[in-house]
Amino acid sequence: MSLSLALANQPHLADALAITRLTLHVLAATVWVGGQLVLAGLLSTVRGLGADAPRRVAVAFGRLSWPAYWVLVATGVWNYLAIDHGAATTAWNVAFVVKMACVALAGIGSYLHTKASTPRARGLYAGLGTLGSILALVLGVALAG
Ligand code: HEM
Repeated sequence: MSLSLALANQPHLADALAITRLTLHVLAATVWVGGQLVLAGLLSTVRGLGADAPRRVAVAFGRLSWPAYWVLVATGVWNYLAIDHGAATTAWNVAFVVKMACVALAGIGSYLHTKASTPRARGLYAGLGTLGSILALVLGVALAG
């Protein structure tokens, strides 16, 4: 193994700017993705609080989750610009494009979920939004390699 390769594989600390960028990205992912999972887990309890409770909790969650989504997009662009594109493999580029499709699925599915008028459509769009969100998260971890 060459010396430069050995140094690249050596565990090292991220610099202050990279820590800021990735902390904001991951923090927003915890709110957007983690919030959806926690909300799904609490839904049966929330339903017991009254007929209007699920709608009110969903509206309150949206006030947190949509800003988190846009923080993900903004810091995601920042992540992309910080990459050494000359060194990116074909697999990395393919994973990035697939991740962008998942981010779109996450946003569109979640938006349609808020607009759906039947329980069936609400469930379908919530499922698509959550699926896109989890896949975007997994691909993000893969991209960070
Ligand atoms: C639902 C939206 C998103 C989620 C849940 C998400 C999640 C993540 C996670 C968990 C990581 C790993 C961070 C780490 O381990 O250090 C990551 C990395 C990354 N994300 Fe996202 N992300 C989202 C949106 C975006 C968008 C919109 C872009 C680009 C416009 C993007 C570009 C990237 C890049 C390039 C990396 C690798 C960063 C690096 O290696 O320095 N992400 N993402």
